Amino acid sequence: MIKDKPQNSTASDFSSRLIAWQKIHGRHDLPWQNTQDPYAIWVSEIMLQQTQVAAVIAYYARFMARFPNIATLAQASQEEVLQHWSGLGYYSRARNLHNAAQTIMDEFDGQFPEDFEKIQTLSGIGRSTAAAIASFAFQQNQTILDGNVKRVLARHFLIEGWTGSPKIEKALWALAETLVPDQEMIAYTQGLMDLGATICTRSKPKCELCPLNVHCMALAKNQTKALPTPKPRKAIPQKQTTMLLLLNGNEVMLEKRPPTGIWGGLWSLPEISMQEIPSEVAMQRFGLEVESDEPLPSILHTFTHFKLEILPQPLQVIHRSLQAIRPNTIWLNVEDAIGAALPTPVRNILLNLQR
Ligand code: ADE
Ligand code: SF4
Repeated sequence: MIKDKPQNSTASDFSSRLIAWQKIHGRHDLPWQNTQDPYAIWVSEIMLQQTQVAAVIAYYARFMARFPNIATLAQASQEEVLQHWSGLGYYSRARNLHNAAQTIMDEFDGQFPEDFEKIQTLSGIGRSTAAAIASFAFQQNQTILDGNVKRVLARHFLIEGWTGSPKIEKALWALAETLVPDQEMIAYTQGLMDLGATICTRSKPKCELCPLNVHCMALAKNQTKALPTPKPRKAIPQKQTTMLLLLNGNEVMLEKRPPTGIWGGLWSLPEISMQEIPSEVAMQRFGLEVESDEPLPSILHTFTHFKLEILPQPLQVIHRSLQAIRPNTIWLNVEDAIGAALPTPVRNILLNLQR
């Protein structure tokens, strides 16, 4: 045991069991493993923040093929970065990644910083993501604490209360820090992730296969189902919007969204409020004389804090005046539009239109 970093026996038991298990039963062949390149690890951790491994794999391959290093990403246009993110959701992740790549070029000489505090100054990198990068790329003794790890710790150490509350979160960080081993940070960090993803799952954890089952307090007290304590539920509000499907032959009009906020910087369909009349807006805003078709079936899209019901309103253009060209709009044939940097529900509307 290293003197200046005392680890109690509970902690060393926890980490050594987890490490031994990870080496045999953990995941070893994910595309972002077996590299020490902080950039490759960073991109994967950002994609994996809110997206499942299975969905990330193909996006990751395409993103890394187009932007193989920090310099390439920093030099690319936001448009192209977003295009490679299109469909993954949570687009602020892509904007932050792009922004942070430029910061690294400007302020860190193009080298990904090794200092744990400096890593956390980069856009989109919080404490847990910084710890994942620091442990995977630089083998630093820093702990991650994502949703999966919170669940494992809340169960293993029988910690009650919603794990997102500041009080419980603070306690979990402190606990997680005491568990960090002196060595084998890559296997340890990956072990935390793998255990949460494959054994200590949200429902029906496979406790009989768990390397930590000997000391797990939730298992001993039959509390695995009750923990972690769920978030106190508020009803999520539902909003409505009408999207204008302005069609001119096989062409559809797209409008670029403002750079920040929901779907910031993506191409989308023009939206109107429920009080406005579609054909009047087409004339006033775009100088287009149109004929309304039947509205298409509505689409319900779920965001973190609300649901959005989208009512797509097709409008056939009868007359398009020359003055109708507006900044931030573009006419594309439907097939090309589908390939643009679109939010998922908008792409689905266009895909339905094609059939
Ligand atoms: N989730 C977050 N980071 C991950 C990683 N490196 N491997 C698998 N799942 C993850
Ligand atoms: Fe999770 Fe069960 Fe392992 Fe406890 S024994 S850590 S509840 S999988």
